[in-house]
Amino acid sequence: MAAPQTFSLLALTFSLLALASTVRCHNITQILADNPEYSSFNSYLSQTKLADEINSRSTITLLVLNNGAMASLAGKHPLSVIKNALSLLVLLDYYDPQKLHKISDGTVLTTTLYQTTGNAPGNLGFVNITDLKGGKVGFGSAASGSKLDSSYTKSVKQIPYNISVLEIDAPIISPGLLTAPAPSAAVSNLTGLLEKAGCKTFAGLLVSSGVLKTYESTIEKGLTVFAPNDEAFKDDDVPDLTKLTQAEVVSLLEYHALAEYKPKGSLKTNKNKISTLATNGAGKYDITTSTSGDEVVLHTGIAPSRLADTVLDATPVVIFSVDKVLLPPELFGNATSPAPAPAPVTAPTPSPAEGPSPTAASPPAPPTDESPESSPSDSPVGSANSKSANAAVAVSSPSLFTALVTLVAVAVSVSL
Ligand SMILES: *[C@@H]1O[C@H](CO)[C@@H](O)[C@H](O)[C@H]1NC(C)=O
Ligand SMILES: *[C@@H]1O[C@H](CO)[C@@H](O)[C@H](O)[C@H]1NC(C)=O
Ligand SMILES: *[C@@H]1O[C@H](CO)[C@@H](O)[C@H](O)[C@H]1NC(C)=O
Ligand SMILES: *[C@@H]1O[C@H](CO)[C@@H](O)[C@H](O)[C@H]1NC(C)=O
Ligand SMILES: *[C@@H]1O[C@H](CO)[C@@H](O)[C@H](O)[C@H]1NC(C)=O
Repeated sequence: MAAPQTFSLLALTFSLLALASTVRCHNITQILADNPEYSSFNSYLSQTKLADEINSRSTITLLVLNNGAMASLAGKHPLSVIKNALSLLVLLDYYDPQKLHKISDGTVLTTTLYQTTGNAPGNLGFVNITDLKGGKVGFGSAASGSKLDSSYTKSVKQIPYNISVLEIDAPIISPGLLTAPAPSAAVSNLTGLLEKAGCKTFAGLLVSSGVLKTYESTIEKGLTVFAPNDEAFKDDDVPDLTKLTQAEVVSLLEYHALAEYKPKGSLKTNKNKISTLATNGAGKYDITTSTSGDEVVLHTGIAPSRLADTVLDATPVVIFSVDKVLLPPELFGNATSPAPAPAPVTAPTPSPAEGPSPTAASPPAPPTDESPESSPSDSPVGSANSKSANAAVAVSSPSLFTALVTLVAVAVSVSL
């Protein structure tokens, strides 16, 4: 029996498929915009940034609710709760209407996006799909004792085998889904959250500099934090922060946050320069992103930093830990390679554009290792604009597919 080889070849096949599936090939906002009956659902996909997450995946099924069915959620719960409820409607497998009626044994549990967020305890992120008598298909939470309270009503759109959009008549509610605490409770102790996540040094700097208040002031409209972990501050590449002026420390810390909600899916699909809280004029103190598979890398123009963990994602607040201190060229442009201690700027010139913060306006110096314009091009995916990225997919998909078919054929023949 050659079963082990078969399994490893199949595993390789699936990992290649997983790699291929991170490529963007649809725009869910556009798909639903053609159907005004889903306008409320569509608006919530945008507000919660789930649209970006959906666009960054393929081989998925989205269960949509029309405006009537959406009324039981819309406006009745915090955005973070609605995001969880809608995440449970993003199935990480492709089901078109035919496949719904061909489920083996008539019932199956399928993974959803909610399961991947870390917010779903146990199997609460799974959905039960059951082919009922009389051609009806029921959906319910996988939690034991749950009823199949939602039913399939009609097909909306299929792009085989990238995305299938199906309408159901009611939300799928897993136990505890709607009673999760509001994010205000979760973020009321921002420094406590950061300390628990291994970002104690960063939390301490936020408090001693007073920048914590700037972070807190934007929580309602949206906040994204890139918190370097304690290891990052011990890195040899980190300049001596005690040589910075107070204003520069403020800029550095403000550089680690955005006044908007940008969860991982949005960073994955981002193609633009992103303004930070330190941005005080066009092109100043911004960052760019690149992706590699499921990984997101932040580029400052000096050195890249990997997005490590999502500490908290509670719309409209998201906190990530990162494995490097983000060094803006505006402060560290002259720091060459691992040489510590930038030249302290003695006479800050006032910024012509009135920034939101008391930022030290040191003259921007040319970036050293990495320029913001060219930085994303060092990454294979997510760097090129979407047109050329799509073109690349169109060219590479058939050959990848051929390779996979060959592998599977080999696997099957070896096992026989
Ligand atoms: C998706 O479509 C919407 C509506 O047409 C449009 O506003 C948006 O820019 C599109 N998004 C992308 C990433 O192309
Ligand atoms: C799905 O739910 C139905 C009804 O509760 C149950 O009979 C069935 O066993 C469940 N399916 C799975 C795969 O757990
Ligand atoms: C997904 O969409 C892309 C681009 O439209 C297409 O090339 C590909 O064949 C589709 N199917 C799969 C399985 O990726
Ligand atoms: C914040 O959280 C930390 C760590 O969990 C805890 O030590 C601290 O007492 C909390 N502060 C408040 C005001 O709740
Ligand atoms: C970089 O070095 C040059 C020459 O030594 C100096 O004039 C400039 O102010 C420095 N820039 C920064 C941001 O320190």
